[in-house]
Amino acid sequence: MAVLISGGLGYIGSHTSIEILEAGMDVIIVDNLFNSKELVKDRIEQITKKKVTYYNIDETDEESLEVVFKENKIDSVIHFAALKAVGESVEKPLEYYYNNLISTLVILKLMKKYDVKDFIFSSSATVYGNAEVMPIKEDFSLSVTNPYGRTKLIIEDMLRDIYYADNTWNIGILRYFNPVGAHISGLIGEEPNGIPNNLMPYITKVAIGELKEVSVFGNDYDTVDGTGVRDYIHVVDLAKGHVKALQKLASKPGLVTYNLGTGKGYSVIELINAFSKASGKDIPYKIVGRRAGDVASCYADPTKANVELSWKAEKDINDMCKDSWRWQNSNPDGYK
Ligand code: NAD
Ligand code: UFG
Repeated sequence: MAVLISGGLGYIGSHTSIEILEAGMDVIIVDNLFNSKELVKDRIEQITKKKVTYYNIDETDEESLEVVFKENKIDSVIHFAALKAVGESVEKPLEYYYNNLISTLVILKLMKKYDVKDFIFSSSATVYGNAEVMPIKEDFSLSVTNPYGRTKLIIEDMLRDIYYADNTWNIGILRYFNPVGAHISGLIGEEPNGIPNNLMPYITKVAIGELKEVSVFGNDYDTVDGTGVRDYIHVVDLAKGHVKALQKLASKPGLVTYNLGTGKGYSVIELINAFSKASGKDIPYKIVGRRAGDVASCYADPTKANVELSWKAEKDINDMCKDSWRWQNSNPDGYK
């Protein structure tokens, strides 16, 4: 069985490629290196001792992408490729709508043409907007507050329409909570461009001495210690969720939607403390004002995925911190 993994050299895509290869499937990666390096392919092969087929193609380019469908017998597609920074999407909505929507439309169109009907889409907890009740279940109402989130919701709606019109598709919509951590080898991990927006990569840059201190965005939320609470999930657990989702699609379930989270929330201060403990590094921080658009708490009810996919996040906050630190510490300059 061959899986086309779009955005497969990125953070989540690379970890998922490893799990798919280790589950005995073939992997064909398409990535335009917009937010990744070709070296990641070598690292995936080094870790798994298996070969990966790779195409440096922009997925919005239908003619080039069609070559991949012509040259390979593809059984299913996992679509990670997207621009993903919430703040940047507010500044550059056109780029976000163009890249995220067109790449999805092009790949779906080619899937239809080549009769490949198993599709997994990387959605996000961001589609739940400002959910009032925690934990979040899949049937909660959906709303978004920024262009990035809107691309996810538009694509989810498109997929529901596509399935409604043709129920021979099998579609897995996976809503990720907050992926952190790295492969245990320390060979692959998250490499944000410039100053990180997300908490964990910011903490690791402080730990390595590249940044001075973490700015904690608000300590007056209605949470355990006033700082924001999130459902951090180890990226390898998340990757394994994709293998389970592919197996689910093989049973022809139609369109299915799952939260991929641990179900447990940690505050900013709790994460900083857990990281200090796991790494032995002191992480200085200061409390600053709230960040616009942030919610107090966001964590999943992952029961549906636990039951229907036989999947459960196994790694705890200590594993997440240890593995993030190993990656940062052994690759201080990322993939350079
Ligand atoms: P990433 O930026 O590390 O990976 C995305 C990959 O897609 C990159 O390698 C990039 O070069 C590639 N890409 C982007 N546009 C492309 C195009 N037009 N053609 C070909 N390749 C293209 O991001 P990630 O963190 O691995 O996220 C993967 C997916 O998961 C994204 O869809 C993202 O929106 C979603 N997601 C991520 C998070 C998170 O916190 N990381 C949370 C929820 C959902
Ligand atoms: N935070 C800080 N300081 C920082 C960065 C973050 O205090 O320097 C806080 C935030 O205020 C929030 C928590 O740490 O309370 C987590 O923030 P992240 O930026 O790491 O993650 P978010 O939950 O804001 O967003 C992430 C992804 C989104 C995705 C969302 C839900 O960036 O793309 O999870 O999946 F939509």
